[in-house]
Amino acid sequence: MKVILDMDPGHDDALAILLVLAHPELEVVAITCCAGNAPLHRTVMNARVVLEVVGHQDVPVAKGLPAPLLRPLQTAPEVHGATGLDGPVPPEPSVPPVGEHAVRLLARLLLESDETVTLIPTGPLTNIAAALRMHPRISSNIERIVLMGGAVGEGNVTPSAEFNIWVDPEAAAVVFEAGVPITMVGLDVTHQALLYDRDLECIRRMGTRVSTFACELLEFYSRFHRGRYGWEVGPVHDACAVAEVLRPGIVQTRDMYVAVETSGVHTRGRTVCDVLGVTGERANAAVGLAIDRDAFVELLLEALASYR
Ligand code: RIB
Ligand code: CA
Repeated sequence: MKVILDMDPGHDDALAILLVLAHPELEVVAITCCAGNAPLHRTVMNARVVLEVVGHQDVPVAKGLPAPLLRPLQTAPEVHGATGLDGPVPPEPSVPPVGEHAVRLLARLLLESDETVTLIPTGPLTNIAAALRMHPRISSNIERIVLMGGAVGEGNVTPSAEFNIWVDPEAAAVVFEAGVPITMVGLDVTHQALLYDRDLECIRRMGTRVSTFACELLEFYSRFHRGRYGWEVGPVHDACAVAEVLRPGIVQTRDMYVAVETSGVHTRGRTVCDVLGVTGERANAAVGLAIDRDAFVELLLEALASYR
């Protein structure tokens, strides 16, 4: 199965990369980077750092759009640090990003592919929206979009909105209205898949370069979540989206109509999920409501243990 990751590494994006690359049944055709957790130049560097750590420098990394479609960029240094990947001392990446712009690369790879491609966006949807608008024909070659973003219930940036959607609501609206199959892996799911100290200890005991890198990421990442929520480590949001692609059904979903609020003062970036079907609108997304946490943690820890 061909996949393209569009992401804003970011600690949980990094874990998502480690998870997907431990599974050769998924061919990571490219990693396209967007701005979100950190500015674009940092997310591109961070994606390359993770690939260097796991020895997959062969995966093309492309630079995308540096800011949301219509709004100034808002980043999350309080969660991910100034570099966007604080914690580990990063290796110097040995391979530069590709010269092709991420939006162009996304479109070209989709149009040239002889089979459908699954998109796994785990950051703001700026690049995906731009690609859909500039090259509408790509829709027919997208198997599905399994995105980490949104929430049926509470938000994490505001009471209404989850970060990825909140950063670029207009882009999210384009994606949800594009008519492409979407699986929305939102906070209702990821907050059920928290990692705890015992999980971190399991990873620490693996004693490899990759497991040590993952531990250093999670130790830094846990500081924010311990302080904000009292959680031991926290939700590896983006790895949940990868897990759904690896094990379809690990996330329990319900088809429903989702609209994205782009103009609300208190509700900017909310994924308004029509749980009860009151709008009469046709469902445009399979919305995640729960996850098999044990299966998810087993999948993640097995992946980390597979690196030697
Ligand atoms: O709200 C969590 C999401 O925002 C995750 O993808 C995290 O990496 C940030 O991008
Ligand atoms: Ca992310």
